[in-house]
Amino acid sequence: MRTKCQAHADAARKNRTTTPAKLPLLIALVSTTPWACADEQTEQRLQFCKTCHRPGYSVSYVPTLDGQPRAYLFDQLMAFKEKRRPSDGHQRYWGPLSEKDMSAVADHFSANPPVREFFDVDANKVAAGQSKAQALQCASCHQPDFAGKDSVPRLAGLQPQYAAGQIRAFTAGSRQHPRIDGKSGISQGDAESLGQYLAQVR
Ligand code: HEC
Ligand code: HEC
Repeated sequence: MRTKCQAHADAARKNRTTTPAKLPLLIALVSTTPWACADEQTEQRLQFCKTCHRPGYSVSYVPTLDGQPRAYLFDQLMAFKEKRRPSDGHQRYWGPLSEKDMSAVADHFSANPPVREFFDVDANKVAAGQSKAQALQCASCHQPDFAGKDSVPRLAGLQPQYAAGQIRAFTAGSRQHPRIDGKSGISQGDAESLGQYLAQVR
């Protein structure tokens, strides 16, 4: 079945091949794009994002977005768009997103329950990460259960290599964090232990 969106695209294409006298009509058509068209594009984008951001896919470096606070997700999409947070993929290949898309993405993933996966973690590193997190009071912002709130992300159950990688990015200064920078005294080993600890918090 042809959708409203495809029908609209066909109508616009047909107009483009006609005489210049039809130009005002074409402009009118484009500027009154039916709502169904924009919504379908947003939905298609979301499905594309889910080829990576889906439950069970965090085996690699892909973070789960399910259960992240809405404000945090929106902030990060804006940070990719404004190049405050580096990511070739999100900037060059599958971005930039419109504010409407960003809102839809943030609404969608924040409404899903967090994904609980079991990672193969090292007990000694988990213990070391736990004492470091306590000493540095990470829970004061990320919440006692590390579930996050508003613009502060959930850390409980994050993919361990991803969490460690982000902590290293904060210490290297390629991504900004309110408490972690090159002077926080967090070593490469600490980043790994913190990642292992946070991954298994339930
Ligand atoms: C090819 C796989 C892939 C696709 C497709 C993809 N992402 Fe990502 N996404 C990643 C990876 C890997 C990261 C971690 C980036 C980093 O290292 O900072 C990420 C990070 C993110 C983050 C930050 C998560 C956090 O916890 O801070 C958001 C938000 C995000 N992606 C949204 C999207 C949206 C929206 C789309 C679709 C338009 C999308 N991604 C498509 C792989 C992907
Ligand atoms: C003052 C509040 C505050 C404290 C304390 C804090 N954080 Fe954060 N953290 C944040 C905020 C805000 C962000 C989101 C940064 C951004 O917008 O990119 C964040 C982001 C993160 C992320 C990225 C998560 C993701 O999905 O990409 C990690 C990992 C992290 N913090 C770990 C820690 C650790 C480990 C500690 C303790 C050493 C800590 N944080 C202490 C506020 C805080």
